[in-house]
Amino acid sequence: MAEKRKSIHGIWSGRLAFILAATGSAVGLGNIWKFPYIAGENGGGAFVLVYLLCIAVIGIPIMMAEVMLGRRGRRSPVNTMHALAAEAGASRHWHWLGWAGMLAGFLILSYYSVIAGWALAYIFRSAGGVFTGATAEGVSAIFDRLVGDPERLISWHTLFMVMTMLVVARGVRSGLEQAVRYLVPALFVLLLILDGYALASGAFNQGLAFLFTPDFSKISANGVLIAMGHAFFTLSLGMGAIMVYGSYLPDRTSIARTSVTIALLDTLVALLAGMAIFPIVFVNGLDPGEGAGLIFKTLPIAFGHMPGGALFGTLFFVLLVFAAWTSSISLIEPAVAWLVENRGMTRVQASVLAGVITWLVGMLTVFSFNSWADFHPLFFVPHFEQATVFDLLDYLTANVMLPLGGLAIALFSVWIMQRNDSVEELDMGDGAAYRLWHFLVRYVTPVAVIIVFLNVTRLVDFGSLLGLAE
Ligand code: PHE
Repeated sequence: MAEKRKSIHGIWSGRLAFILAATGSAVGLGNIWKFPYIAGENGGGAFVLVYLLCIAVIGIPIMMAEVMLGRRGRRSPVNTMHALAAEAGASRHWHWLGWAGMLAGFLILSYYSVIAGWALAYIFRSAGGVFTGATAEGVSAIFDRLVGDPERLISWHTLFMVMTMLVVARGVRSGLEQAVRYLVPALFVLLLILDGYALASGAFNQGLAFLFTPDFSKISANGVLIAMGHAFFTLSLGMGAIMVYGSYLPDRTSIARTSVTIALLDTLVALLAGMAIFPIVFVNGLDPGEGAGLIFKTLPIAFGHMPGGALFGTLFFVLLVFAAWTSSISLIEPAVAWLVENRGMTRVQASVLAGVITWLVGMLTVFSFNSWADFHPLFFVPHFEQATVFDLLDYLTANVMLPLGGLAIALFSVWIMQRNDSVEELDMGDGAAYRLWHFLVRYVTPVAVIIVFLNVTRLVDFGSLLGLAE
């Protein structure tokens, strides 16, 4: 057995701490803000079904692979890939996977922080009773006013980036771990309260039908790519966040059980959020394809009309901010770990540097909602004519960079890494469970990712073969 490496950044206090941290990374804006609006834009049921399938056959196996690589390498993704490639006698170019992940992390966090800023702003609006008794139009107007004002967006974005840097600077144990312990459970409770409200709203069945009745004529090939991309995004896969968290995982923890637990919790949060939001959409005659403002235009209506709504609303947005916070720290951790390892920086210096860069890139998103709202850089490309800079950043990262990163992780884990090494590191024997994982990662994931990509680039029109829309 190879000599085990040690992480210089410290180690989680145990399996529970890792589950909490990785769940904190996974559960975030992706579940509550993004999942409902992209499900709405892509027709509901069929999209949700594809997404769930992707979580099961692509997401969970890749999560296991990513945790496994991280724990074996015990360093930042760049250095982990370097070390593992050397160990397997493979090309040193594999460390580019770590770099690509760092870049994806910067780009995602740059817009993530702006959206988290909306949630910050909404804490104060709820607490101030702004939504009490508000109509759907009133709530929409409040949202439009917020995103139309770049100065406000910059202030909230700045605050959120400072919060992120503060936690990251404090390090693995004291910073990251403490944050998640009570927040994830509290978020569940609040979502259940919202679901209770939706249940009583009169359109609960309509909401459920929208989410869970698949109609494949409503989803396009591009919709399938978005569902797959979201499976990566929501589980934080394909950019090194889970890899770097895995590098802090104690040696004897079961990677398989942990990954399944995290994926189940994450999926549950997304579905609970969808079940709360769509009934409100239908009761108020709103458009499910409303776009990025969806939850900010729907949930405040519920808070404005339920008893104790100002309190619940405030709490909800506080929890949403916390959920985003525990994700954002994982988005820059790969870069921070690298700066500490290779540039000899302290965690504080590394966090500040990474945070300032991300903050600057965030301006692209800030202006996408106001000054540049009519700037459509790819106006000449079908599907993207109307896309703003924010839309393109989101599309590029979630639907291109993460799936490609995941593909590379899959290929490395089963085609490059020695089989014995993955058996040893996953530590679940060489039985049926290991073989299933190996099969999924070796064949199913790469083939699925490649088919979806080819299909979207229209080189092969599998979509029409499968009877998908367009
Ligand atoms: N999983 C997070 C969410 O759903 C976003 C994220 C993506 C975090 C990639 C880390 C890495 O909100």
